[in-house]
Amino acid sequence: MNDDELDAVARDILISNDRGGYTIPTDGLYPFQWNWDSAFAAWGFSTFDAHRAWTELETLFSAQWATGMVPHIVFHKEDDGYFPGPEVWGVGTTPATSGISQPPVAAILARLIHDRVDGTERLRALYPKMLAWHRWWRESRMAHGITCVTHPWESGRDNCPDWDPGMVNVDTSGIGPYQRRDTGHVDAAMRPGKADYDRYLAMVKFGRDCGWDQKRIRDDGPFLMGDPAITFILIRANRDLAAIAETLGEDGSEPAAWADEMEEALPWLWNRDLQAYAARDVRTGVFASAISSGAALGLLAGVENAQMEAHLAEMWDRVRYGIPSNDPAAPSFEPRRYWRGPTWPVVNALIAVGLKSAGRDADEARLRRETAELIRQGGFFEYFDPMDGTACGGNRFTWTAAIWLAWANRGDA
Ligand code: GLC
Repeated sequence: MNDDELDAVARDILISNDRGGYTIPTDGLYPFQWNWDSAFAAWGFSTFDAHRAWTELETLFSAQWATGMVPHIVFHKEDDGYFPGPEVWGVGTTPATSGISQPPVAAILARLIHDRVDGTERLRALYPKMLAWHRWWRESRMAHGITCVTHPWESGRDNCPDWDPGMVNVDTSGIGPYQRRDTGHVDAAMRPGKADYDRYLAMVKFGRDCGWDQKRIRDDGPFLMGDPAITFILIRANRDLAAIAETLGEDGSEPAAWADEMEEALPWLWNRDLQAYAARDVRTGVFASAISSGAALGLLAGVENAQMEAHLAEMWDRVRYGIPSNDPAAPSFEPRRYWRGPTWPVVNALIAVGLKSAGRDADEARLRRETAELIRQGGFFEYFDPMDGTACGGNRFTWTAAIWLAWANRGDA
């Protein structure tokens, strides 16, 4: 297939994963609206249907909680092919949602979409909602000035070794029997293991049992870890929100100040043993022991750090394609197991946005070329083995199609 034909397939994936105002990540494995997937889907739509791009974000924000939180899953319609569904989360909103959030990339992508297709009035309506969401992160997910996650699913990088220090302390005794659905859709060797799943469900149970009281979840919940990825994403997203405010003639000094404060707090995430940024358990102070693509997102935030740069260059040179989700030199590296090694087109695209802003055109072009190559060889899969390029996980994946259209085959980061 040539690149024009791949463009047509990518558009077809977005259109066929459209369930009416929102897209599902992929048919079967993920049958609802996922938060950061939708923001990337909107970016993809903006290459051929500006109206539909804004609608994607509007539908996502229509499920925003009164607290400002934008949930990680919105269960618009029933589908029993997914576990844990709305009854397990027990949130009680309409539409039903999960009780945690996901990486706040919406402002970053809304700005890129606006640069591409305009739509100022629709951006104006989204602005206060994005601001409220960023405020929610600040009020409900901060420790030591760093953004934390209360569940690995909240990070969007589910089984990354970043979360291992916190996962070992999660008590799974109360969860009872359950039936997974994900391993019926894709190879179990490419998915998180059972011990991980037990812990994920124990965290959901804690949230449900306390009525999704976010303060209790942060202060007393089974898991709380500082996340370099969301911290870096939020630094960038707050600066982008400030830039959006300026475009709209609003005062963006508040999100701009939030970004500066977060940047000042970064030393708390500095692992001296690794000489790198790393995830860190808030309860115990223990650091993750390998460098992940989450730490690489410092490039998105424009955080300059020579040691980090050197590590990332080494990590990138150890693989053939893209930035791996975990350092190939680490014992925990598994090239095909989800977030423990594979490369993810969406993360590569976010890193590219940062490289482009920093004027690092050669690195940006290399990352784009490698990501495009994976898609040309393997198709629109969820993620890829960074060593040999094997396509992994779900097929006809919305965000991979979106990344192809908006960046990998076009270069508009
Ligand atoms: C997995 C990924 C997460 C993504 C979701 C839907 O849970 O880890 O990042 O949002 O699938 O694609």
